[in-house]
Amino acid sequence: MFGLFKKKEAKREITFDYSSIGVDMHSHILPGIDDGAQNPQESIFLIKQMMEVGIKKFIATPHIMVDYYRNNAETITNALTILKAELEKESIDVEVQAAAEHYFDETFEKRIDAGELMIMGDNYVLFEFSFINQPVNTIPVVEKLKDKGYKPILAHPERYPYMDLEQFRNLHDWGVDFQMNTISLTGYYGLGAKKIAEQLIDNQLINFISSDMHHPRHAEAFKKALRMPYLEKLLFDYPLKNTLLK
Ligand SMILES: [Fe+2]
Repeated sequence: MFGLFKKKEAKREITFDYSSIGVDMHSHILPGIDDGAQNPQESIFLIKQMMEVGIKKFIATPHIMVDYYRNNAETITNALTILKAELEKESIDVEVQAAAEHYFDETFEKRIDAGELMIMGDNYVLFEFSFINQPVNTIPVVEKLKDKGYKPILAHPERYPYMDLEQFRNLHDWGVDFQMNTISLTGYYGLGAKKIAEQLIDNQLINFISSDMHHPRHAEAFKKALRMPYLEKLLFDYPLKNTLLK
């Protein structure tokens, strides 16, 4: 009896993966332009790790952050070209595109006005808040994004401990989709982030899930997340939008 149970468990671990999601739309796998992969070899390592658990397409999202990572369309496109050359050299057949993770700093609104945002899919824009506090002009900027035809996605809401469920609902009602880092469910960012992630899932507020992959420790946690019961809630019968980006 015990043997049968073990066999069943083992089978489940093998079949439970990210292939129904297919698209990873938040990662730092482009080489040498932010705090993610530092060279093409590191990029390839991370990509292979994610392919192993069912990811079929990558939308890389390097930081655009005026104080730290002054990326733009040119630096990002160049890094994508370097990565694609390396993938071809190693005969790895996988689709990789690039957008960005826009930091909501004082330059974000200027970038919107200048039409300099790096989009994914049908005009989706990934942006993140500071980990300290929410920008006071959040709603006017969200309105501006929407007026210009963009579809805003807030990166890892579970990592903003200063926000409560009501604030999350409010922002979601303004038309902001939420992207959760799957590794938050493992407690990788602490118990607080894990709790908020679970709460957001229970309230059907998560629209995208992704790796936010920077380095091998994230790859390890990404695999570990497959054993978290809460992830199962997202992989089946949950209205995730990742597949819209196929
Ligand atoms: Fe990120």
